[in-house]
Amino acid sequence: MMTCMKFIAICAAVWVSGVAVAADIVAGAAKAQACLACHGAGGISQTPETPSLAGQPDGFLQWQLVYFRTGTRKSPVMQPVSAALKDDDIRDLAAYFAAQPPPRAGSPANAGDPLAAAGRKVVQGNRCTACHKDDFSGTQATPRIAAQREDYLLKALRDFKAGRRTGGGVAAMADVVYPLADDDLRALARFLAQFAS
Ligand code: HEC
Ligand code: HEC
Repeated sequence: MMTCMKFIAICAAVWVSGVAVAADIVAGAAKAQACLACHGAGGISQTPETPSLAGQPDGFLQWQLVYFRTGTRKSPVMQPVSAALKDDDIRDLAAYFAAQPPPRAGSPANAGDPLAAAGRKVVQGNRCTACHKDDFSGTQATPRIAAQREDYLLKALRDFKAGRRTGGGVAAMADVVYPLADDDLRALARFLAQFAS
């Protein structure tokens, strides 16, 4: 009975303060100043092994910040950053970065790149687009991977393969990378970094 009463009270509180709990992009922009030194102006990263956040799905950003905060996703850099974030900070920051124009792909001069061509074949032979969408723009908890930094894509794929990154505990990416060789991961990272969506 007690639990039931509490539940009703919480529901009512959330409903009454509905406007207050909605994400606030303007507040998010102010809070994001603390992130830009590493993640770049507008969320386009110029920092090695640090991802661009611009144009990532809102849900993906929120989940990753929660994973860092709870320690289910390990990062000596992001763990202290996320420890200081409250739930409404996470909502505001995610809303801000999701609304920024996504990164643009690298130079089309690289179109004949054999590593990128090999990466295209690995994508076709796997199910990447089934989850990340045909243009690799991501959706909900699945990230945008088009035009992400190549060094970060490679690090992420290697982390999944080595079991260093488990995130939400859903083994989606671990299953995907398990049969792939390191050459395949390098090819995927090159292809996706150059993918113009
Ligand atoms: C000192 C540098 C630094 C600062 C400051 C920083 N980050 Fe990060 N962030 C990183 C690095 C490095 C990673 C990659 C971690 C890894 O390799 O798994 C990362 C990863 C992330 C990810 C995961 C994205 C993905 O594609 O997987 C999110 C989301 C994120 N940061 C949000 C933020 C937010 C929001 C802030 C500000 C409140 C912030 N970061 C501040 C360095 C930083
Ligand atoms: C069954 C669905 C599914 C398939 C198939 C899939 N992915 Fe993923 N991918 C995900 C999800 C979900 C995440 C987020 C994982 C997390 O929360 O830790 C992810 C994360 C990633 C990341 C990390 C990006 C970041 O910003 O942190 C990369 C890179 C990636 N996937 C590449 C690929 C590639 C390349 C393929 C095909 C070879 C592929 N994925 C196939 C669902 C999938």
